[in-house]
Amino acid sequence: MAGQKMSQQEIQARFDAETAAAYSQRKPLWLPEHDYAMRLVLKVLESYLPDSARVVDLGAGTGNLSRRILKALPDCHVTLVDFSRNMLNEAPRLLAAFDGRYRIMLEDFWRVEFPAGEYDGVVASFALHHGRGRPFTGTCIEKSMAGSRSGGLCLL
Ligand SMILES: C[S@@+](CC[C@H](N)C(=O)[O-])C[C@H]1O[C@@H](n2cnc3c(N)ncnc32)[C@H](O)[C@@H]1O
Repeated sequence: MAGQKMSQQEIQARFDAETAAAYSQRKPLWLPEHDYAMRLVLKVLESYLPDSARVVDLGAGTGNLSRRILKALPDCHVTLVDFSRNMLNEAPRLLAAFDGRYRIMLEDFWRVEFPAGEYDGVVASFALHHGRGRPFTGTCIEKSMAGSRSGGLCLL
């Protein structure tokens, strides 16, 4: 209905119905500066994280951002978190060159618990807007901070 936000189930169903293979190839028309934004994210990560960083990508989808991170930080490891099996199923194809340097978690990022201090960096691209305002975003930031080592980086 107009003006109403989608439920979590509707969001999941929407991404489970996405043509995942096409998703990773597209240049989003709705965001002409997409490439520029991605490059800025990488600049920040490269400046603050070691090459061997452990990074978690929330709402990773097919792995668009994860792939860029894996390329930019030669010894890093990326954990992709997403609740759409359809989107994640595409990730191994996209990340084939990085076997052994990533893992996939089929999880709702509002509920997932990270071991304390597990990550050097927590990132999300075009995913957290699927939340429901402050309680969701606050929870996500708290979980991300808990999962980051002291001095780690959250780029959400
Ligand atoms: C617009 S896509 C962005 C994908 C990727 N980050 C990128 O930049 O290409 C949003 C992704 O967030 C995921 N997502 C949305 N809400 C989620 C939630 N609560 N838990 C896990 N994944 C979620 C969707 O399944 C989808 O894959």
